[in-house]
Amino acid sequence: MIYLDNNATTAVDPLVREAMLPYLGEAYGNPSSMHRFGQESRQAVEQARHQVAGLLGCDVRELLFTSCGTESNNAAIHGVLAIRSPRMTIITSSVEHSSVREPLQALVKSGYRVIEIPVDLRGHLDMAALDTALGDPDLALVSIMWANNETGVVFDVAAIGGKCRAAGVPLHVDAVQAAGKLSMAVRDLPVDLLSVSGHKFHGPKGVGALYVRRSVRWQPWLRGGPQERDRRGGTENVAGIVGLGKAAELAREALADDRSWQRVAILRDRLESELIAKISDAHVNGDPNHRLVNTTNIGFAGLEAEAILLLLSERDVCASAGAACSSGSLAPSHVLRAMRLPERVAHGAIRFSLSRRTTDADIDGALAIVPGVIDRLRATLPV
Ligand SMILES: Cc1ncc(COP(=O)(O)O)c(C=O)c1O
Repeated sequence: MIYLDNNATTAVDPLVREAMLPYLGEAYGNPSSMHRFGQESRQAVEQARHQVAGLLGCDVRELLFTSCGTESNNAAIHGVLAIRSPRMTIITSSVEHSSVREPLQALVKSGYRVIEIPVDLRGHLDMAALDTALGDPDLALVSIMWANNETGVVFDVAAIGGKCRAAGVPLHVDAVQAAGKLSMAVRDLPVDLLSVSGHKFHGPKGVGALYVRRSVRWQPWLRGGPQERDRRGGTENVAGIVGLGKAAELAREALADDRSWQRVAILRDRLESELIAKISDAHVNGDPNHRLVNTTNIGFAGLEAEAILLLLSERDVCASAGAACSSGSLAPSHVLRAMRLPERVAHGAIRFSLSRRTTDADIDGALAIVPGVIDRLRATLPV
């Protein structure tokens, strides 16, 4: 199998699995229990908190564990809005993941106003439109992603945060695709809340974290027991949290080693440039100079992404077509539509996303298969 769908999920690193195993076996104590057996689990959870804080560059007390990136985003949004009442206006971008889009759309039904800041053809946020929106006197929250899951385009979080600070409105950043791929020191950034998810950087699925700056007023979203210092009820997923911690430690080491991600960038660039050279009417979507180094989104003009993915899957190549297509819809994803790409390019857009584990052989294999698949489909098109 050639796995080039790492923005969807990544393989669990063997060292992560090894770190988790005791907590799926003999070390099953509840971290809230007073006895020593439970306290061993507590220590494991706290060690993981240090590891994640190390990756994000924040204080351990500013981090709480959640069940996924989606929960972190929901908790951030609802947790801030509960405090900011009666303010009813939220600013977001037109290219957010559904875990931000959907809660915001639901909030519109209960009376909130959501201002979507547009992006340009390269996927960049319209900063002038953000300035205008930030003049609204009724602002409760800004929620904007760091890196886009479909194109890899990276927003200038420092600049966005600076503007939010000046306007006196809290900023939540969905960093689910950025964490583990970009070096970050959240403590030095004008960011108030930030979401991450373990399975995007070789941790397990079903565990995430939310950073909440100490000075930020916020209410717990998932209420129950006193876990996570009263900020998130529910017995901790100890094995998952330990896995997230180990994955964060490994991701931090890889980010400190320039060669690790440089190698990924070289592989991605080779895949992209050779596909563009071999296949006519193929276009890179998103600003090539401000992207995650693991992602390329290529539009094969005149084709449907679903057909391409199906044939690639038959040849054991895993890639992705963007959010909307994966739910069985033929419409291009909201991200590509927001970028106002020509329809004939957006419909045939395929995302290839690499990881630290992607090999030269994977790229050779993809380059041997993808052009043939595109030729075959184009040969069947009506003239
Ligand atoms: C940008 C972004 N935010 C949030 C999520 C949701 O994360 P999770 O799958 O952990 O709920 C994803 C997952 O694809 C994502 O890409």
